[in-house]
Amino acid sequence: MQVLASAHPNIALVKYWGKQDAVRNLPAVSSVSITLDRLTVRTRVGFAEHGDKDRLSINGHVDPKSEQRAAQCFDAYRVSADAPFRALVAESDINFPVAAGLASSAAGFAALVTAADVLHGGRLSRLELARLAGQASGSAARSMYGGFVYLAAPENKNHPINVNTVLSADAWPLSVVIAVTTHEQKAVGSTEGMEQSRLTSPFYDTWVANQAHDVDDALAAIQSHDFERLATISEHNCLKMHAVMLSSQPGLVYWNGATVEAIHRVRGLRRLGHAVFFTIDAGPQIKAVCDPDDTNAVADALADVPGVVEVMCCGLGPGATATQC
Ligand code: PMV
Repeated sequence: MQVLASAHPNIALVKYWGKQDAVRNLPAVSSVSITLDRLTVRTRVGFAEHGDKDRLSINGHVDPKSEQRAAQCFDAYRVSADAPFRALVAESDINFPVAAGLASSAAGFAALVTAADVLHGGRLSRLELARLAGQASGSAARSMYGGFVYLAAPENKNHPINVNTVLSADAWPLSVVIAVTTHEQKAVGSTEGMEQSRLTSPFYDTWVANQAHDVDDALAAIQSHDFERLATISEHNCLKMHAVMLSSQPGLVYWNGATVEAIHRVRGLRRLGHAVFFTIDAGPQIKAVCDPDDTNAVADALADVPGVVEVMCCGLGPGATATQC
């Protein structure tokens, strides 16, 4: 028997940057995200016919580092689900750029734990699977859920995260236009970057202390479908995270020239009356969240920015799912 799982990346509007426990990968701050549709990781998982090692290929290639992280994730699943060891073979197909700041690992781990669980007869709840995915990659917990998602960081290291959908994708359909400014993988991964920021940025403690306010503001904006309010808090929170990154030692500059130009384009569109705001993660890609009616204008404007190599449009999508095949 094989299981086919699919999961989508999510984009944080109130960002996660910093861990309170590196071993258990517990975030220092809560976050709020939207799960996308269209950009998809599809992962087929089955029991290995021979061998005692978990295997993973991504788009037909084996990357030893990713394979090792998948094996750790499967091990954590076996412990939580009390499942006996049987080696697993996983094949992932990803229809968007990998490790380039588009949350491929978030969708990837959400798909892995979902597939493993169905293969083992469905032993864990969605929240338990989200916690496992979150151990592998903090933001992956959010890709287990669809629509607008809230991830609550625990008060201390003895407690787990909590995650849930706060508003479904169809209750407030928004569009996301992604402007890719390079297909290169980022130089400093998020785990390393977060630790660098925690240890060296003079703004890190303030960032952590102010996060609850930003989360509450974003959740209130989402509940009342208040686009202006969501735009204001999302851009502010994103720029604050990048201020922490930039003020780390050495400074983490994830942007390139096209990223900065795209920020100005988005703000220019807003001045013209379009409902759109930007957010940027640990990479140079711009994600513009907009009213569906503004999608074409936003996509055209971002495609026109020198240095933008690809523009992708999507809507909001569901959490991870799996079926036997
Ligand atoms: O889940 P990680 O370890 O890849 O960290 C994600 C960090 C950001 O994308 C920059 C912010 C976020 O909340 O997704």
